[in-house]
Amino acid sequence: MPNTIIVGTQWGDEGKGKVVDFLTEHRDVVVRAQGGANAGHTVYNNGQKYVLHLMPSGMLWPGKPCVLGNGVVIDPLGFLKEIDDLEAKGIPVTAEQLKISNAAHVVFPHHRGLDQAREQRRGKGKLGTTGRGIGPAYGDKIDRSGIRVSDLIRPDRLKAKFEARHARLGSQLDGFDLPSVEETLESYAKAGERLAPHVTNTVAYLHHALKEGKQLLFEGAQGAYLDIDHGTYPFVTSSNTTAGGACTGSGVAPSRIDEIIGVCKAYTTRVGAGPCVTENAEFSDRLHGMGREFGATTGRKRRCGWLDLVMLRFTTMVNGLTSVAITNLDGLDGIDTVKLCVAYELDGERLQLPPIDAEDWERCTPIYEEMPGWSEDITAAKTVDDLPANARAYLDRIAADIETPVGIISVGPDRQQTIVV
Ligand code: GDP
Ligand code: IMO
Ligand code: MG
Repeated sequence: MPNTIIVGTQWGDEGKGKVVDFLTEHRDVVVRAQGGANAGHTVYNNGQKYVLHLMPSGMLWPGKPCVLGNGVVIDPLGFLKEIDDLEAKGIPVTAEQLKISNAAHVVFPHHRGLDQAREQRRGKGKLGTTGRGIGPAYGDKIDRSGIRVSDLIRPDRLKAKFEARHARLGSQLDGFDLPSVEETLESYAKAGERLAPHVTNTVAYLHHALKEGKQLLFEGAQGAYLDIDHGTYPFVTSSNTTAGGACTGSGVAPSRIDEIIGVCKAYTTRVGAGPCVTENAEFSDRLHGMGREFGATTGRKRRCGWLDLVMLRFTTMVNGLTSVAITNLDGLDGIDTVKLCVAYELDGERLQLPPIDAEDWERCTPIYEEMPGWSEDITAAKTVDDLPANARAYLDRIAADIETPVGIISVGPDRQQTIVV
């Protein structure tokens, strides 16, 4: 079994959690390498629903070690709540099973405050962030004033570094209701004490695992178009959500990676602001009416539209996808004619790849190809042959366009509703 990176190919919420949960059975260690509690990965296991934010989805498999790599940002109070919620549901989170990088950066209350203050200041131009402090925490990291997990577990260093950082805030957060410096130090030091047994040099841990022949599964968060470099900037998150981020965010070298699976919804969704060329009100209403496509972290309605092959083409390149997992194919059940966006039109030109600037993206109009849909309910399909011919033709059309095979088809949220091609 290979070392596998799972990435989102769109704007997040493609079903990465479900795919990771499905694949974990045949892997040994599950690794999160970027992002923070902005992620919301929904996994159904034995009828129980779990929404994981920072915890790798592999935690639902007893005894499978899970790693939070150096590239993630950790809000320790929120993360401990996630641990407590899992334990209350009968999932023990032991020091053997969960490893946390000592080099990961810590999210503090002022990061959440700054996130919200900056959004307020942007007014109509706001990005629609999750408000979890992600941008400011990565900002401190890049600015070289961040505080890391290795500081969190040493109260003296935590105090010195946090007080210095806090002093530099000036009046930026006046009027915001933040805990005092003393309160923060006390709660964070306590959290550090609880997390300390999990903290280690995860680079060494993962290399040791590789040496023993263990197979790693990297659980991407967000999606390619939320990538700080390759996404719809500035309507992006603050980490590298594409495949390269799995390597820098874990310390596992690219030479160790065998396969990269891009998770792609059978249509498009996006939460937050920014371009979304195929967005379609009627299609959105249809999915929301079925109780689908509400954000797992913020509960916001996701914006929905037809599948966008222009996006998928670029994603395939930038991630070097070896196969794709198409999820939520059942979301298209009962539609007479399905549409695929095959190109954009911008200023009279036909584009095969997305433009670089959000201002241009916003002005693109979709050029669609239509395909006959299917009336059948496909949620019980177990093999490709169980799928209606029109559904198979839809998948074949996608694979041909991106010159990449479809390896997994998901026809429902449950682990069992997964077809391996
Ligand atoms: P992630 O952030 O990429 O892990 O995706 P989310 O969990 O935020 O959103 C995906 C949603 O689709 C979740 O509610 C999943 O339970 C659900 N889901 C995943 N695959 C399928 C599928 O094939 N069919 C249906 N109906 N739901 C799915
Ligand atoms: P998963 O892992 C969907 C979006 C936010 C906003 C932008 C920036 O569940 O796929 P941030 O809080 O990161 O600064 O917000 O990114 N966003 C996501 N959208 N799924 C996610 O994660 C997301 N994480 C961030 O809505 O538009
Ligand atoms: Mg999600």
